[in-house]
Amino acid sequence: MSLLKGRTAIVTGAGSGMGKAIAHLFAKQGANVTIADINDESAKTTADTAAHQRVQTIQADVASESDVDSLVSKTVAAYGGLDIVVNCAGVPQSFTSIEELTMEQWDAIMNVNSKSIFLMAKYAVPFMKKQKSGSIVNIASIAGIRARPGLNAYCASKGAAIMLTKALALELAPFQIRVNVINPGPANTPMIGQFLVGDETDKEEGMKRIFQDSVPLGMLIEPEDIAQGALYLASDLSKIVTGEILNIDGGRGI
Ligand SMILES: NC(=O)c1ccc[n+]([C@@H]2O[C@H](COP(=O)([O-])OP(=O)(O)OC[C@H]3O[C@@H](n4cnc5c(N)ncnc54)[C@H](O)[C@@H]3O)[C@@H](O)[C@H]2O)c1
Repeated sequence: MSLLKGRTAIVTGAGSGMGKAIAHLFAKQGANVTIADINDESAKTTADTAAHQRVQTIQADVASESDVDSLVSKTVAAYGGLDIVVNCAGVPQSFTSIEELTMEQWDAIMNVNSKSIFLMAKYAVPFMKKQKSGSIVNIASIAGIRARPGLNAYCASKGAAIMLTKALALELAPFQIRVNVINPGPANTPMIGQFLVGDETDKEEGMKRIFQDSVPLGMLIEPEDIAQGALYLASDLSKIVTGEILNIDGGRGI
């Protein structure tokens, strides 16, 4: 199947984990893909292992307005348009009590996990409005609707991402631009070890704890599970779906 043949997509945070799986699946489905990440080396590894050559890497910090502006304009220049944006870049938070949380930590988490969605929309939407079509897929988290202690800034940043998705979906519907959000549950990516509580340093043990305690289906979510959801929301399979929250979480959000 070539569900994205001829479409152009930007996937942020595509150097690792879910973003990498999404970029790979989109390339396999025929899209031109800009693989964007703050870590250029890992972005290049994603590109080297993609299914076809219509991919490019752009180093970008999604919290920087000038980087986002340039990311969007370079993508349009390279491929002649922009149909899909997947905002997957994100940073975790390790357990921090509210009185210990610093302004710098708060700002860093909010900037990457939610301000970036505003910035990507600000620069991508003008191109999508011109062509009267587009799909924006935000990767938030089940932590955006179901809190965990000590993840105060992370939960707030993901809650903001979810509500911004809904606000943009309404605002952009007249232009046939759809905006949806995926809430992954605890996933088998490099990020998961960084959510651990206190002195718990063994990643495998931490994963096991999250797996046992919070996922009713009893397994971690794989990056490819998220990629399948992103493909659905990015493609015409979901042409009448906007403002929707898709929990891909093994039941964690129930
Ligand atoms: N892993 C989980 O358990 C989990 C659960 C729910 C939601 N999420 C969310 O899913 C998304 C993907 O996470 P993942 O698990 O694949 O993590 P990951 O750490 O494997 O990948 C995140 C990528 O984002 C990039 N990145 C970080 N800051 C950036 C910035 N300022 N600009 C550009 N790129 C930046 C990193 O370099 C990395 O390549 C994130 O938004 C995360 O919050 C993860």
